[in-house]
Amino acid sequence: MTQYLLPPTPLETLDEYLATETGGLGLARAQELGPEATIAVVRDSGLRGRGGGGFPTGRKWASVASGPAGTRYVVCNGAEGEPGTFKDRALMRANPYQLVEGILIAALAVRAGEVFIALKASFRTELERVTRAVQEMQTAGIASECSVTIVAGPEEYLFGEEKALLEVIEGRPPMPRLLPPYEHGLFATDITAGWESTDGTRSPNPTLVNNVETLSSVPHILARGAEWHRSMGTDASPGNVVCTVVGDVVAPDVGEIELGTPLGEVIDAVASGVGAGRRVKAVLPGVAAPVVTDLSIPVSYEGFEAAGSAMGAAGSIVLDDSACMVTVAHAMSRFLYVESCGQCPPCKLGSAEITTALEHIDAGDGDGADLDALEHWIARVTDGNRCYLAIQERLVVASILKTFRTEVEEHLTSGACPRPRPFVVPKLRDLSGGVAFYDERQATKQPDWTYS
Ligand SMILES: Cc1cc2nc3c(=O)[nH]c(=O)nc-3n(C[C@H](O)[C@H](O)[C@H](O)COP(=O)(O)O)c2cc1C
Ligand code: SF4
Repeated sequence: MTQYLLPPTPLETLDEYLATETGGLGLARAQELGPEATIAVVRDSGLRGRGGGGFPTGRKWASVASGPAGTRYVVCNGAEGEPGTFKDRALMRANPYQLVEGILIAALAVRAGEVFIALKASFRTELERVTRAVQEMQTAGIASECSVTIVAGPEEYLFGEEKALLEVIEGRPPMPRLLPPYEHGLFATDITAGWESTDGTRSPNPTLVNNVETLSSVPHILARGAEWHRSMGTDASPGNVVCTVVGDVVAPDVGEIELGTPLGEVIDAVASGVGAGRRVKAVLPGVAAPVVTDLSIPVSYEGFEAAGSAMGAAGSIVLDDSACMVTVAHAMSRFLYVESCGQCPPCKLGSAEITTALEHIDAGDGDGADLDALEHWIARVTDGNRCYLAIQERLVVASILKTFRTEVEEHLTSGACPRPRPFVVPKLRDLSGGVAFYDERQATKQPDWTYS
């Protein structure tokens, strides 16, 4: 397998990057081709967004490029807040240059003169690496006409949601706005959201938002061509992907694999599998998609879809046979409840009620009223949802309850948890050398985003 995203050792300088086989060639090729042909290469490569949704990148670029009037912007989403995911941070640490080159190619393609790179303020190493890469590249005259601003944002999970990301860049809290970035972009003065611009102009400023890994893939595609990218992976999921594997594994880590590799092989190759004498009971692709139990499924968009789930950001939270799935559902639900911003009442209220019912059942105090509350709120938590978080609550909780129905019944009939064992939602603070460090403050986070 050709590994092209994660170098064997981190690249420390621009000179080192330019000395690699393709360093700088992607941008040079895009400059030769011009915007339309650059977009055509990305479209033909079949690249799909690695931020979670898997939207075809070329199609997104084309819609921003041909969107309504106004100044166009490019935003790199480096907020990486999905539990069980560390791949964007690994990429920024190992090779920030390919990311900046990808951003500059995207700016050229959609004719944006200004770009923003948004990272959490707590990502100190990555902020330092990306800032230095931008400075080195601009000093070297690489697309120096494009203005690059690095934004250090808050810790909240919603910061990574693209409509909330734009709010943060504009100086507000991460509360998702109504319309998507291609319709209501950065610094828009459009009236479609129900408010009027102060100067009478109408400028929706279509904005392209792409994930770190998506943009890091772009220079390689421009340098080597769409066919090269299509020669790896599957028809519907070409190329490589950077996976994170954490949880009940021997050595949690990040690793680049070819899309289509079976999930079990990925868990073994990236994280050395589960402990001796244990077996995998379940895998959660973050907190955004239904649980899976079949390790033979291919790690690809269509592979996870066929299993009734979604690949998301290619993070795997592995649970072995000692895990209590009711405890896991409770912890996941609490995470989403706490992180919900409350702009849509059924999301905040519903996830609160679901969390309370799961807390009762998990503690062995559950009864029929808790099951009724779960049924009621799982059906309604998404009512009037402005963003996908409410859907995540439904998908994750409902899938665990359905797949592990007998574990729920065991709790109800025995009045206790049959597999008492703590479970912490793996919001990663660091991941290196086969050791994962979880953010312990998350357990004390309150639904109003303060910490107790
Ligand atoms: C609650 C929530 C959190 C998200 N967090 C992230 C994130 O941390 N990083 C990211 O790239 N995308 C995140 N996304 C997805 C983004 O909204 C968006 O789809 C993505 O950045 C688009 O880039 P792509 O097309 O390159 O995947 C999140 C979505 C939701 C609903
Ligand atoms: S769905 Fe939930 S998280 Fe998303 S905007 Fe509404 S309240 Fe906030």
